[in-house]
Amino acid sequence: MSDIIRFGISIPADLIASFDQFIAERHYTNRSEAIRDLIREKLVQREWDAKIKGKQVIGTITSVYDHHKRELLNKLTDLQHDFHEHIISSQHIHLDHHNCLEVIIVRGEAEKVRQLADKINALKGIKHSQLTMTTSGLDLK
Ligand code: NI
Repeated sequence: MSDIIRFGISIPADLIASFDQFIAERHYTNRSEAIRDLIREKLVQREWDAKIKGKQVIGTITSVYDHHKRELLNKLTDLQHDFHEHIISSQHIHLDHHNCLEVIIVRGEAEKVRQLADKINALKGIKHSQLTMTTSGLDLK
């Protein structure tokens, strides 16, 4: 673990009042951890935006769809085979008679992973699909 550095910041009173309200809603016990999390969030966002050749990001694509739409199932499977190098694992849950939930864990260059997420989202019959962008954790302390 690296050394802890303390520093002071100047901030308008109404901005810190809003921030304190935010951290209370999120159940933080102090400003420091909330600020550390905001910094980490920005650094993860930077990893996804960096467009560095070979730089690996990690994420999940969560989708809900009706499995009775057979053509959708075929297209979804085809897409996953097209991007097999970027898929670590997937889990399929039958939510009810009609609806399925699928979570795909993805790793690779941000651009490719985003491409897969966009293509899944654009499939006809997908009710909801969302890419969660996270990190390998290697660059975060
Ligand atoms: Ni199912």
